[in-house]
Amino acid sequence: MITVKDHIYTMTTRDTSYVLSTPDGKNIENLHYGKRINRAPLTADTGKIAGAERAELTDTADIMTDGKTVQALKEKYNNPYGNAIQSTGNMTLDNICLEFSNAGTGDYRILPLILRREDGCISTRFYFADSVLYEGLYKDRDRTGMPYAREGEPSSDTGRPYTLEMIYRNKAEGESGDDKALELRLIYTAFEDCDVITRRTVLINDTSVTYVIEDIASMMLDLHGTDYVLKTFDGMWTRERHAHDKVLESGIYETGSVHGISSNVHNPFIMLSDIDATEDHGDCYAFNLIYSGNHRERVEVSEYGKVRILTGINPQGFEYRLKPGETFYTPEAVMTYSDKGFNGASQNMHRFVTGHIIPDNFRRSLRPVLINNWEATYFDFNRRKLLNLAKDAARLGIELFVLDDGWFGIRNDDTTSLGDWSVNEKKLGGSLKSLVDEIKALGLKFGIWVEPEMISKKSKLYEAHPDWAVSVPGMEDYLGRNQYNLDYTLPEVRDYIVGILSKLLKSADISYVKWDMNRPFTDLYSKGGTYPGEFAHRYVLGLYDVMKRLTDAFPHVLFEGCSAGGSRFDLGILSFMPQIWTSDDTDANERMMIQGGTSYGYPPSTMGAHVSASPNHQTLRETTLETRFDVASMGVLGYELDLTRLSHMERKIISEQVKFYKAHRELLQTGVFTRVYDRHDRVIWQIADDEGDHAVALLYRRSSEPNKSDDILFAKGLKEDALYKVRVKESKIPVKTFGNLINMVSPVHIKEEGVMQAMIGKAYAMDGEVEEYTVSGAALMYAGIRLNSRFIGTGLGEGTRVMGDHSARLYTIDKIG
Ligand code: GLA
Repeated sequence: MITVKDHIYTMTTRDTSYVLSTPDGKNIENLHYGKRINRAPLTADTGKIAGAERAELTDTADIMTDGKTVQALKEKYNNPYGNAIQSTGNMTLDNICLEFSNAGTGDYRILPLILRREDGCISTRFYFADSVLYEGLYKDRDRTGMPYAREGEPSSDTGRPYTLEMIYRNKAEGESGDDKALELRLIYTAFEDCDVITRRTVLINDTSVTYVIEDIASMMLDLHGTDYVLKTFDGMWTRERHAHDKVLESGIYETGSVHGISSNVHNPFIMLSDIDATEDHGDCYAFNLIYSGNHRERVEVSEYGKVRILTGINPQGFEYRLKPGETFYTPEAVMTYSDKGFNGASQNMHRFVTGHIIPDNFRRSLRPVLINNWEATYFDFNRRKLLNLAKDAARLGIELFVLDDGWFGIRNDDTTSLGDWSVNEKKLGGSLKSLVDEIKALGLKFGIWVEPEMISKKSKLYEAHPDWAVSVPGMEDYLGRNQYNLDYTLPEVRDYIVGILSKLLKSADISYVKWDMNRPFTDLYSKGGTYPGEFAHRYVLGLYDVMKRLTDAFPHVLFEGCSAGGSRFDLGILSFMPQIWTSDDTDANERMMIQGGTSYGYPPSTMGAHVSASPNHQTLRETTLETRFDVASMGVLGYELDLTRLSHMERKIISEQVKFYKAHRELLQTGVFTRVYDRHDRVIWQIADDEGDHAVALLYRRSSEPNKSDDILFAKGLKEDALYKVRVKESKIPVKTFGNLINMVSPVHIKEEGVMQAMIGKAYAMDGEVEEYTVSGAALMYAGIRLNSRFIGTGLGEGTRVMGDHSARLYTIDKIG
C-alpha cells in the first residue's frame, strides 16, 4: 500500500513504514524507514485492510501520518552548521536523509549519480517535480530488458503491489534554450506480503545532447545513527557466501563484483543491522539486486551521524552513453526491514524470492530428487555406465537423471568443444533420444548440462566465428578453464544459442537443464562493435534475452543455474531458474558454512545440495552418509556419486533417505527456514510449516568435544500451547566409526581398515539412537530438549548418541494436540 497526500509519501507493508516528504520543494527527505509506525488503517477485528477500504484510503486518506507527526519526524535546522554548504535556509544537504542527491550541492557523501555533460561537467540539479502513484508493478518494467519482481499471487490480507514514481527534473537551461530536460525517476514498489520495497532509478535524456553515465545507483537509502554492523557474504570457488561481519565506524565500506557476473567473491545480498542485533531480535535491514553482472554495494557512515547505503551496477569500466531520446534503467534493488533480527529479515527475503522472483509456474512445484553423473564419472562415461547409474538411481527412488559435462562435440576433458552443442553419438552409443528413452523407461526423468555462454578455442564454432569469442585483438588472452566467454552483446550470437539449444531441447524428452557458466570475464570487449563501457551491462541484457526466450519456449523445463558451483547465485538468475547449484563443494562441513551463509538471503528451495562420496572430492574429509544427507536435505536434494559401487548397507541407507526426503519434501522445500542456534561448535537449523505444526530440525556438530555438556535441541516459531512429538530420524552408524574399539565387543579380532572391517561394513551398520519425546511447544522453544548423552569414550549405553566431528542428526517435530 502506498499513499500520497499533502506531499507526504507513505509506503506501508505488513510490518514496515517508509515515509518521505519534501523539506524544501526540491529534495525528498526520508523521514522513516523501519518498523511500521501507522496504525490507522487496521480494521478492529483482523488487523487487516479490506479491499474496499483499501481503495478508499488510497484515494483520500493520509493513512500513515498526519501533519503533526511529519513535523515531529523532520530534521530541524535552527542554526547553521559551521562551514557546511547551505541549501534552503540553514539546511545543509550533507546532513539530511535524502532519497537522491546531486553532485555539486554540498552533500559530500557517496553519490548515487555521476553524469558527465559534453563539456565534462558532472554537477547536476535534479529537483523533485512530481509524483505518480498506481496499483501494480512499474509500468515500463518490460522495457528494462531485465527481470523484475513479479506481482505474485494476491493474498487475502494484502493487496496488489503499489508503485510510486518520484520524478526529478534537471532543466538543460542555457544548453538548448528550449524546455527540454533530463528526467530522473525513482521507482518504488511495495510488496506488502513480505515487507519488501523494491527500488530502481530511471534516467531519461530528453535533451538534444549525449550525456555519459559514469555511475548510477539503483537505490540510495539514508538512515539515522551510526552503530551498525554490515554483514556481507563472501568467498571463492568451493567456499561461497560465508557470512562476515564488519562493525562500522566512520568511513566508506564497499563490496561488489567486477567479474562480469555477480561472483562467488561478494554476493549482491548484504545486511545492515543494529550493533546488538541477534538472529531473532533487533533492527535488521537487508538489500539485494535483481541483477547478475557487476554490482557494487557501498555504505558510508557520515560524520554527522547518518548512514548512506547505495547499491547498483559497479561503475568500474562502466561508461554508458545516453543519447538524446534514450532512457537508462538500472536493475531493480530490493530492500526489507525487520525488528526480528537476522531471521526476520531472512524470512522476509525468502518469502519475496518464493513469491515474487522465481518463475510463477515453479512457485509451488516440488523439485525432483536427482542423480548427477559428474562426481560419479567426470568425463569418463559411456552408455553402459550411464544406464547402470540410472538403473541404480531408479531402484533407490531417485526421480531425475542428469547427464553432466562431456556428452557433446569431442569433449573428454575441459579443453574443447564448448559451443558445439551436437551430441557425441559415439560416446553415448546412439542418439540422445534413444538414451533418454531408455532412461525414461526406467521411471526417471532426464536432464542435461550445458554451458551456453562459452566457446572453446578448439571447437567448430570458434573456427567459424573467432570474432564471437570475447578478447581484445592484439592483446594477450587470459583464459579460464581453457575457454572464452561468448559475446552475448551481439544479436547473431544470441540467435545462434537460442536456435541450437531449442533444437537440443526438442530432440528428446528433456525436463531439466543445468545451465553452467564456468569462467568470469577478463576483457570487456566486443569485436562486433559494442561500446566497451557498455559491454558488461549489455552482456547481462543479452544473457537475460537468451534466458527469457528459452524459458518462455520451454516453460515445463526446470532450469538449474550454475557457475563453477555458486559463482552466480543471484536474484537475476533465480528469475529464470528456480534453483542454483550452490557450490562445487559438496563436503557436509563446508556446506554448513555455504548453505548457512546463503540462507541469509535465499530460501532452501533455491539451493541445489547433493550427497557425494566420502572422502569428499574437494576437501578429502570423511563424513558419514547420514551426515551428508542430513545437510543436503536442507536444500534441494540430489546425489552425485557412483551409485553402482555402493555396498548393500549404503543402498539401504540411501533408499531410506530418499523415502524420508519425499515424505517431508513439501515442508523442506516450501517451509519457513530458521537459524535456531550456532554456538560452541553446534548448529541447529529448522524448517517449519507456516502454521508451526510441523518442522524438521537439523543438529550439526562441527567437532566432538569430549565430556562437555550434552546437546540441547531447541525450536522456534512453534505454538506455545500445542503438544509436539519429537523424534530423531532413524540412522545407521558405520562399523568403522569405532576403529579398533570394535574389538572390545567382537569375538574375533578385526583389523582397523582391514578387509574384514570393510566386509562387515558393507553388510552391517549399527542402529543409531532412538529418541522420542512428547513436549509442549513452549518447553521445546524456551527450555529445549536435553538429548541423550553423546559417546565420550566410556562405552556405549542404550541410546548413546554417537556423534563425532562433522556429524549431524535430523529430528521431526509434529503437533499431536
Ligand atoms: C562446473 C560445475 C560442475 C560440473 C562441471 C562440469 O564446475 O559447477 O558441477 O558441472 O562444471 O564441467
